[in-house]
Amino acid sequence: MDPVGPLRLGVNIDHVATVRNARGVVHPDPIRAANLAEAAGADGITAHLREDRRHISDGDIDRLMTELTLPLNLEMAATDEMLEIALRHKPHAVCLVPERREERTTEGGLEVARDENRLAHFIAPLAEAGCRVSIFVAADRPQIEAARRIGANVVELHTGAYCDFHAADRVDECRAELARLTEMAAFAFDLGLEVHAGHGLAYETVGPVAALPQVVELNIGHFLVGEAIFRGLEDSIAEMRRLMDAARS
Ligand code: PXP
Repeated sequence: MDPVGPLRLGVNIDHVATVRNARGVVHPDPIRAANLAEAAGADGITAHLREDRRHISDGDIDRLMTELTLPLNLEMAATDEMLEIALRHKPHAVCLVPERREERTTEGGLEVARDENRLAHFIAPLAEAGCRVSIFVAADRPQIEAARRIGANVVELHTGAYCDFHAADRVDECRAELARLTEMAAFAFDLGLEVHAGHGLAYETVGPVAALPQVVELNIGHFLVGEAIFRGLEDSIAEMRRLMDAARS
């Protein structure tokens, strides 16, 4: 199958803010990183406003909305506070993610199937406000079906398990997780959903995910910001872009 569309790169700038917040100062500035990301070939910027504001702040979202030329994908938990913020800003896209205060990062996909009614109340007003709504899910059929039922436009498939197995050299489990992602990308696309993917992707793991023909957007952050320490942010992003394009062709 040919790719269903060009593959976009959304650069997640959360961890530029993590470094800034470690000192409680203004440097490094995540909005400067967003501008560099655009120059390096990013198609969009992703930022997760967490309940505890551990990285991205409300002020960052204000500035991203006024200073950024690329589309903003706001990741957020499905809470009333976040809904009010999203409806005030009306970003290009909103990605609903699970959030637990004690977690280090977004550990799994959203439990959509058991929470359909509540989540539907978040999707409707966001869609009415013109936001493209995506839901971050594991590569799991019932979750994808539920996302479709409650009116999401997009599912973002969680690639964290695939990347973790790869890093631990657990080859069979890594292959099995990639097979699941492959199958569920096709399943979601056939249901009429746009398919994105992300979490934990690095140079070594991006190729097989970028090659999935139904996937039209990857959101990548932690690896790119880490790699920027060694080769600079623009170069770290440009290399990711190159690997994505090579896998796609
Ligand atoms: N996609 C979603 C929905 C996420 O929550 C995250 C992490 O914030 C990412 C992608 C990016 O993950 P990473 O920072 O590991 O590349």
